[in-house]
Amino acid sequence: MNIKTAEFVISNPDYKNCPKNNIPEYAFIGRSNVGKSSLINLLTNNKHLAKTSTQPGKTQLINHFIINNQWYIVDLPGYGYAKVSKEKLSSFSKIITGYIKNRENLYCVFVLIDARLEPQQSDLDFIEWLGSNHIALAIVFTKADKLSDNELNRNVNVFKKTLLQSWETLPELFITSATGKKGKDEILDFIEKTNTNK
Ligand code: GTP
Ligand code: MG
Repeated sequence: MNIKTAEFVISNPDYKNCPKNNIPEYAFIGRSNVGKSSLINLLTNNKHLAKTSTQPGKTQLINHFIINNQWYIVDLPGYGYAKVSKEKLSSFSKIITGYIKNRENLYCVFVLIDARLEPQQSDLDFIEWLGSNHIALAIVFTKADKLSDNELNRNVNVFKKTLLQSWETLPELFITSATGKKGKDEILDFIEKTNTNK
């Protein structure tokens, strides 16, 4: 699929004020700084669409972008960043959980995983939580450019094995690098397929 147009629609602290839920929607979620906003900019070929930062905690609201006037990409705040105050952490999670549980047009949640790290408990907990709420998900490894192919394969395999301890089948997995422009076509093809098959 080609993205011809990608436009910012609205930012919200509450799912209740999100745009009308009559078209497919795909959300990007993961720990703060994992590269959610950067990946959205890679997919849409627009470096300035979603705001990125070297400092964790940049995205703090639910941000809707409309793609080709047909479906939404949603940029969400990160979870599990210890340096944000406890109060803020819980409000982040309320924003995220309220949005995910109540958004009926959410076709798939892309859970972003930093490819450099061992499986992180907060990621595994979040994936479990999605599963227990019957939310469709796919896994996206980010920052693949920071590893050798060997290290990347090893980390991806460790992650898969860890998931298989509690899941019978693995979700769709993507390997990406916003810097190296890797993984874009695979994700867009998956979205196109999901848009037409659902
Ligand atoms: P929050 O909104 O704070 O939760 O962060 P985020 O997940 O949206 O991350 P963001 O896209 O703002 O990126 C965080 C930092 O990681 C920035 O400095 C990016 O340039 C960097 N980054 C993101 N993706 C990649 C990647 O694929 N490769 C490399 N090397 N750096 C990346
Ligand atoms: Mg962000």
